[in-house]
Parts: sequence; structure tokens; C-alpha cells
Amino acid sequence: MSEANKKRILIAISGGIAAYKTAELVRKLKKDDFEVRVCMSRAACEFITPLTMQALSGNPVHTDLLDPTAEAGMGHIELARWADMIMIAPASANIMAKLAHGIADDLTTTLCLASEAPLHLAPAMNRIMWQNPATRANAELLAERGITLHGPASGEQACGESGAGRMLEAAELADIIRRQFATNNRNNNNDDDDDDENDSDDDKVLSNPLENKQVLITAGPTREAIDPVRFISNRSSGKMGYALAEAARDLGAHVTLISGPVALEAPQGVTVLAVESAQEMHQKALQQAQSADIFIATAAVSDYAPKQQATQKIKKQAQEITLELTQNPDILSDVSRQYPSLFTVGFAAETEKLIKHAEDKLKRKKLDMIVANPVGDNQGFDQDTNQVEIIWDQGQLSLPEQAKSALAKEIMQIVSQRFANHPILV
Ligand code: C5P
Repeated sequence: MSEANKKRILIAISGGIAAYKTAELVRKLKKDDFEVRVCMSRAACEFITPLTMQALSGNPVHTDLLDPTAEAGMGHIELARWADMIMIAPASANIMAKLAHGIADDLTTTLCLASEAPLHLAPAMNRIMWQNPATRANAELLAERGITLHGPASGEQACGESGAGRMLEAAELADIIRRQFATNNRNNNNDDDDDDENDSDDDKVLSNPLENKQVLITAGPTREAIDPVRFISNRSSGKMGYALAEAARDLGAHVTLISGPVALEAPQGVTVLAVESAQEMHQKALQQAQSADIFIATAAVSDYAPKQQATQKIKKQAQEITLELTQNPDILSDVSRQYPSLFTVGFAAETEKLIKHAEDKLKRKKLDMIVANPVGDNQGFDQDTNQVEIIWDQGQLSLPEQAKSALAKEIMQIVSQRFANHPILV
């Protein structure tokens, strides 16, 4: 590929032991014929040397915001304009906090603020730092602004602990970057009919309607507080929604999962926004739906919540007490009404009249598709397998009982096909 046609990726390294993986990432990107430039924070230079990154990227490494020699070559504003994409890997808790607040006190943060290129982050940090409410809030804020977070993964950490905080592997990040640029190629191809003879790898990407689409999924149960220690909830495990998130990610989509409390690990490469109550899920879903292409509601949202939440633990005194409940908002209905161009998929868990109830919901909630599954009698909720009927305006399809992960792949294929025929896209 000629120099002019090469895609330009700026890899920014912040301080973290995972920086060693970034060396491999840069090597892979070079091998894939990307033009790679690297900038490193001071702390990053403690973990891996600029010389290593220079040798691997084939370009001088940028470390200082106001270095006269660097500015004489490619200044920071020029570098910000140069990039087709910026990937911060590893992204420390510190750099996430700075980005969330628009701080520009070093080269990387200034570049990010000055660039219009898509910004991607591969967070890596100690698991407690990742779980810290400050980091959670920063991650959410960044995701809401259209910055894409990939990972972190769970497992053994360099600090000796185990949990979520490991940076994704170089191969996974290289794959994410390739997909991003495949979409750019697709856009260029659409603009220019003369490019029809481009290589077949791009054609493969073109045939995948979910590539780089934003998929929003709700999953798990909600908890409706009665008092500070008690709540109303249900048996949903979140397994179906999490499996769908992984299947959508594997089809190249950017996935955001709004999850009620579940005992599942965050899928790699998926942005998970944790919520508790239906009200919180409702608010997050409406906000996130603004930038989504597809909305899939698998959450088992509590239909009712206590009318009042006691501020103190309710004491055991009277023989009988009455709990007054009030109806929760219907998240799926509200999203489909507020964003009519969004492709919406609902789930209907039914103990009887499966098809009839599902068809009613398809119409009532103004959906593009509904996935109906029988529940009760050890079916559906909290199980590893499921069987479903998929219904849309002019079609219906049965998928036999199988593992939720396999089922999720099949459902996503159908979503993908129906989405491609969605009138808005034509
Ligand atoms: O009306 P029903 O609860 O059976 O509808 C099920 C579908 O609607 C599921 O897709 C579920 O996630 C969604 N739903 C919702 N908000 C509610 C209730 C259900 O998004 N309050």
C-alpha cells in the first residue's frame, strides 16, 4: 500500500505495567501496514522505553508537549490532525479522569482534546481502582461522550490480585483497530465507485451489517428498594443479555450493556453500565439510545416498585404490613417511541400463550422484532439453555433448545439480517 493510503493510528501509552503489551500491539499494526506513531506519558517511559517503541513503530516517539525539537518535526496539533484514530493503551485511571474532565496538562491529554479522530481506550489498572466509584463515573462519562472503552478483562493482575482490570491482549486490540479501519474503507468505497475492485477482505466486512454499529442491550434483573437493606427483584441471571452482547461484539459492533445486578463478569470489549433500579435503567437507556443503532431489551425489569422507600430498616412489629407498589416505566416502549428510527428488539418471557402474548407486545411496544421464550418449570430464567420463537412483522422462526451462548449467536445473525433490511437504512 502506498504511504498516502496507509491508515494512521496514534497509539498513546499511559503509565501501567500493561505497556509491555502495547509493544506487541504496535508490532502487529506495523505488520498490517498501518502507519503508527506513538506518544508516551512520563510514567509510561518508566515501564517501557521510547527507544523500543521507536524501533517497533519506525517513527520518532513523542513524549513532551513543549519539546522544541519534536515541535520542529511534527508538532502536537499536527499530530492531532494526522491521526485517523487514537488508541490509548494502556489507559490508566489517571488518564481516564483527566479526559473525563477535559484536562490537558501533558502531550496525550492535549492531543486528545485537540483531535477530531475517534478516541478508543484500553483501560488497565488494579481491580479496586477500576471498581472505584470515581473511575466508574469517569468511564460512564467517557462512554456517554462517544469515546469507546475496550475491556478491561478479568484475571490475574500484575499486583497479585485477581479481578477486572487487565488490559486486553495485543491481538484483541489489533483486531478492534482493524475493524475500525475496515469501516473507513467501506465509507471510502461507497464514495467512489472506481474502488469496486478493492481486495476481498473489505468485501467481507461490507457484508456484515453490524460492523461498527452501536448496539445497546439491557440485561439482568432490577432491584426495587423497600428500605436500605431489602428490595424486590426476580430470578433473571443476565446470561442471555451478556451472551448477546458477546455475539454482537463478535460481529464487529460497539456494544454497551446496561446491566442490573448479576453475578457475571463484564464481557471483554463491551462497555458495561451498572444500574440497580428500573428508574436508573430507564434513564440510562434513554440517554444511551441517542447514539445507538440497535436496542435489545433482555432485562427482566421489575414491573412495580415500592411507592415509598423507607429511609430506615423496617422493624418487625405488626403481624401484617402492606407494601404499596407503583408501576415502573416501560423502558423498551419509551425507547422505541422516543427513537423511532432505532431498530428495537424485545424479549417476552411467558408462562402461557407464548406467541399470542409476544405478538401483542411486538405491536404494543412498536418493536421491529420480539424474541419469545417460555419460562417457569425450570425453563428460561437462571438456566444455561433456552429455546425461543423469533417474531417480526412478516415472519417467525423457531430456534430449538440450546446453550444461551449458541442461541445468542443465532439471534444476533437474525437481528443483523433484519437490521440490514430495516427501512431506515435503505
Ligand atoms: O411487558 P413485558 O415485561 O412482558 O415486556 C418484556 C420486554 O419489555 C422485554 O424486552 C423487557 O426487557 C422490556 N421491558 C422494559 N421495561 C419494563 C418492562 C419490560 O424494557 N418496565
